[in-house]
Amino acid sequence: MPKKTLADLPDLRGKRVLIRVDFNVPQDAAGNITNDRRIRAALPTIRAVLDGGASAIVMSHLGRPKGDPRKDAAFRMDRVGRRLGELLGKPVRKMDEVVGPAVTAAVQALKPGEVLLLENLRFHPGEQAGDAAFAAQLAGLADAYVNDAFGTCHRKDASMFAGPAAMAGKPRVVGTLVAKELEVLDKLLSAPPRPLVGILGGAKVSDKIGFIKSLLTRVDKVLIGGAMTYTFLKCQGHNVGGSKVEGDKLDVARELLTLGQGKIVLPVDHLVVQKLDDPATARVVEGEVPDGWIGVDIGPKTIAQYRDAIGQAGTVVWNGPMGKFEDEPYSKGTKAIAAAMATSKAVTIVGGGETAEAVEDFGLAEKMTHVSTGGGAFLEYVEGTPFAALAQIESV
Ligand code: 3PG
Ligand code: MG
Repeated sequence: MPKKTLADLPDLRGKRVLIRVDFNVPQDAAGNITNDRRIRAALPTIRAVLDGGASAIVMSHLGRPKGDPRKDAAFRMDRVGRRLGELLGKPVRKMDEVVGPAVTAAVQALKPGEVLLLENLRFHPGEQAGDAAFAAQLAGLADAYVNDAFGTCHRKDASMFAGPAAMAGKPRVVGTLVAKELEVLDKLLSAPPRPLVGILGGAKVSDKIGFIKSLLTRVDKVLIGGAMTYTFLKCQGHNVGGSKVEGDKLDVARELLTLGQGKIVLPVDHLVVQKLDDPATARVVEGEVPDGWIGVDIGPKTIAQYRDAIGQAGTVVWNGPMGKFEDEPYSKGTKAIAAAMATSKAVTIVGGGETAEAVEDFGLAEKMTHVSTGGGAFLEYVEGTPFAALAQIESV
C-alpha cells in the first residue's frame, strides 16, 4: 500500500512538525563531515514543511555512541546542525538535549518557518530500547510526524516506531526522500525493465547472503567483484594466492553458486599485487591468482565483459565496490562500473553507503536513476524485509 506523503498533510500553518531524518553522516577523525549527501537529501522535505507555514523539529541519530560522555562528544549534532543551517540558508537552533524542559520550552517558542534540531537521539537510552515513555515525550512535541529517514527504516528505534505509534490520530507521512526510495525500489522489486543485472562487490559474502539470495530470484545475471570474488573462486577449487577469503563461508558460496544456476558471473582476470600498499608491484593475471599475489581489483577483460552486460541491461542494481577502490591505483574497476552505468540507457540504481559515496566522488551521482541513501536499509528492503517503521505511517 502506498504511503501518505507531504502532499496529504492538512494545512500546516502554525503547526509543529516532527521530522525524523537520517543525518548519520560519515566523519573524519577530527569530526569533520566528509560527505553530506544525507543532509542534502532531506532538504526538500524540511523546506516543504517550512514553506507550508509550519515550524520543523528535526531529529536524527549520529553514529553508535556508547553512553560514555567523554567519548560521545564526537557524536554531538553541532556540526550537523551547522551544515544543515548552511544548506537551508537559515538559522538552525541546535539543542544540547534530546528531550526535557529546555527542549519543551524551545519547541513552545518556535515560530512558523523556524528550525530546531534535537541532540543525537542515541544519547537517550530510550531511543534504541524503543522505550514507550521516551517515545511519548517525542510525540508530545508536535502536531504531525514525517519519516524522511530511509537509511534508518530497518530499525525499530523509538523515533522510528514507538514515537509515531504514540502519535496515532495525528498526521503521519513519509517525506520526499523516503517516497522516492520506495517508488524506485518497489518498481525494482515488482516490474523492472529487463534484462535485470545485479552487480555485487565488497569484501564479504557473509554480509550479503540474504541480499544475494533475494537477487538471484529476480535478476537475469549477477556480476561479482571485490574481495568476495575470492571466496567464490576458492570454493570452486581455484588458486587465489594471498587474496582475502572467508574460509568459513566456502559452503555458503557453493550453495549460492548452485542456487544461481549459472546467473553468477565471476571475474576472468584480476589486478594483483605482492603487497597491498605497494601498487608498483601491480600486474594483471587471468584465471588463477598465483601464490604470493593478492587480488585488489577486477582486470581489464572483466571490465569489458561487465561493461557489455550493463550496456545490454534494462535495469542495473549495484552494491559494493569492485576492488580496494579507496586506493587510487586499485580503483579502475569500480570507476569503470560507475561510468558504464552513468552512460547506459538502463534504469540504474546504486545502493549502500560506500558505493553511493564512491559514485558521488566520481561525480556521477546525477547520472544515475537513483542513488539510495540507505546502507543496511537498502539491502534489507531489496531482500523483501517488511519495515515496522513504515507500518506506523498512514497508507493512502
Ligand atoms: C546507517 O547508516 O546504516 C543508518 O544510519 C543506521 O545506522 P545503524 O546501522 O547504526 O543503526
Ligand atoms: Mg548501518
